[in-house]
Amino acid sequence: MLATVELFTRTGGIILSRWGHFLAGITWIGLLWYFNFVQTPSLAQFEAGPRVELQRKLLGRALWWFRWGAMFTVLTGIMILGFQKNFDGNYMKSGPGLSISTGILFALIMWANVWLVIWPNQKVVIANADRVAAGQEPDPNAASAGRKGALASRTNTLFSIPMLFFMAATSHFAPVFDTSKGSHRGIYYIIVLVIAAFFELNALGVLGGYAPSPTRKFLDDHRQTIAVGVGIWIVLMIAWQVLFT
Ligand code: HEM
Repeated sequence: MLATVELFTRTGGIILSRWGHFLAGITWIGLLWYFNFVQTPSLAQFEAGPRVELQRKLLGRALWWFRWGAMFTVLTGIMILGFQKNFDGNYMKSGPGLSISTGILFALIMWANVWLVIWPNQKVVIANADRVAAGQEPDPNAASAGRKGALASRTNTLFSIPMLFFMAATSHFAPVFDTSKGSHRGIYYIIVLVIAAFFELNALGVLGGYAPSPTRKFLDDHRQTIAVGVGIWIVLMIAWQVLFT
């Protein structure tokens, strides 16, 4: 009984917001991986009729859970930070602080991709499916909208790999590292920011448009996307090893 009463204290705030964070995070990233590993590769093999039907009857529902999962993941993540009082003292200079900052940076970029790129472009794809089903002319912008959404979605899949590592590493890996040197923390943040900026600008078409190219080829194959995501994780692990041990 006493332990249950704890749920209404700050300790309870920490565990309940963590629980909500996992529920929302799994909803979001589970659907992200379903879209990228299952739906997109399968849809390429569908006939036009069933594809339009799936876009009209399944996609909107899946994207509702997807984007609100993203929203609640971020909100509950911020609640954890508040309940744990992570902003007090020197937390953000510690190993856990560096780890959670890395995870949050990737997660916030992913959230922006969901709400500002994927969802607006998928609305165009769904509206086009409705037009086609009603026997109207297809929207000439639908294919490019689909492409923009797909690149952002694949980039989120890429970021999800290091992002999840750093979320979990915060309490279970990062505390043993020595992050006391400000110059080393600075170098680390530059590495993280360069990686994040490069892949995000690539997704947004800033590095030479949206067409397949050497920098975007790996986004057209989900297995290669996973491999590059693991590659980013390896680079960051080397940085931790070199800078913080
Ligand atoms: C901006 C968005 C996010 C914020 C502010 C945030 C914040 C946090 C915080 C503060 C923790 C606790 C770290 C600790 O002290 O151990 C945490 C843990 C965690 N987060 Fe996030 N997070 C975000 C996005 C995500 C996303 C997208 C996922 C995807 C599933 C996720 C999954 C997790 C997991 C699995 C843990 C568990 C760590 C553990 O106890 O092992 N987070 N997050």
